[in-house]
Amino acid sequence: MTTIRRIGVLTGGGDAPGLNAVIRAVTRTAILQEGWKVLGIRYGFEGLISEQPDTLPLTMARVSGLQARGGTILGAASSSTSRLFETGSHASPTVTAYAKEMAISHMATLGLDALVVIGGDGTMSIAQQFHEAGIALVGVPKTIDNDLPATEFTFGFDSALDIATDALDRLHTTAESHDRVMVLEVMGRNAGWIALHAGVAGGADVILIPEIPFHIGGIAAAIRERQATGRRYGIMVVAEGARPADGEQLYDADGSLGGIGEWVAREVARVCGVQTRAVVLGHLQRGGSPSAFDRILGTMFGASAVRLLAKGKFGYLTTLRCGDITSIPIREAVGRQKLIPRDGKLLETARGLGISFGE
Ligand code: F6P
Repeated sequence: MTTIRRIGVLTGGGDAPGLNAVIRAVTRTAILQEGWKVLGIRYGFEGLISEQPDTLPLTMARVSGLQARGGTILGAASSSTSRLFETGSHASPTVTAYAKEMAISHMATLGLDALVVIGGDGTMSIAQQFHEAGIALVGVPKTIDNDLPATEFTFGFDSALDIATDALDRLHTTAESHDRVMVLEVMGRNAGWIALHAGVAGGADVILIPEIPFHIGGIAAAIRERQATGRRYGIMVVAEGARPADGEQLYDADGSLGGIGEWVAREVARVCGVQTRAVVLGHLQRGGSPSAFDRILGTMFGASAVRLLAKGKFGYLTTLRCGDITSIPIREAVGRQKLIPRDGKLLETARGLGISFGE
């Protein structure tokens, strides 16, 4: 078994509240429990494969107080600009032979015996390929979308949910004052977890998610039904990846998902004759301090990643299952998405409360 003296830690993909809590937990557990040294690698795998590796020594002092800080002190790299892949595909990136050679060679020059890789599905698919090329590593799952089937929760989701719920609470008071329908667009490319949870927590009347293509007629019926009971305002939550049953997902000019909130608001105004306003919550959902839950989950994941390395469980991903921290092989975790099931309890509960999904 590899004798570990020094490990590297990197964060891949977009940021999520709680990343710094993981970095801190990895560093402290590695130093205090295992007596290892820890080196941060900046900008994900990019920092490892570039001619001059981009690193940041992680000491007890360097990670002090990090649990409360949003973002990642190691920097986040966007995969669309990556030199790691043969293809630009985010869904199934193929790592180049050059990148594998550089990573192995730089691991040796930096004196790194193993890596902790923190990231989402794309990053884990890259990590698996580096693992198969001979690099000892473990993974920590991350995404505010909470759409990785391997784990019940990823850190970042709870913080994003708090922000979206707070936004809905604020929209309620102004919607009520003006008798308007307010539409809040939240993140969620293929999975509507943020929209569904925030919609229930924030008392939305209509929730639109990627898993259930919607009809404007269905939304209009829900708004009219509400108006018939004397309530002249309304609240809608729309996941950025939601789409009409007879249309496609909408993209901004820069190729990012976006615009569905504005589109729905316009259509509802036209069909129902009500005043509407759309708000895009965007990257506010990823910014700022992590919630207490995300700090704890990130900390548990970070400590568990170090324990996996110490046990030689390379190629494993730390996960949360039945409320317990456990692990599964990264190869079994990647390439799948956790979507909202049609028979899910929260969906059923929402329907029971009279929330419309625009069907
Ligand atoms: O993957 C998480 C996510 O929050 C998606 O819901 C969203 O589409 C994406 O990140 C946006 O990320 P960026 O603007 O950093 O490319």
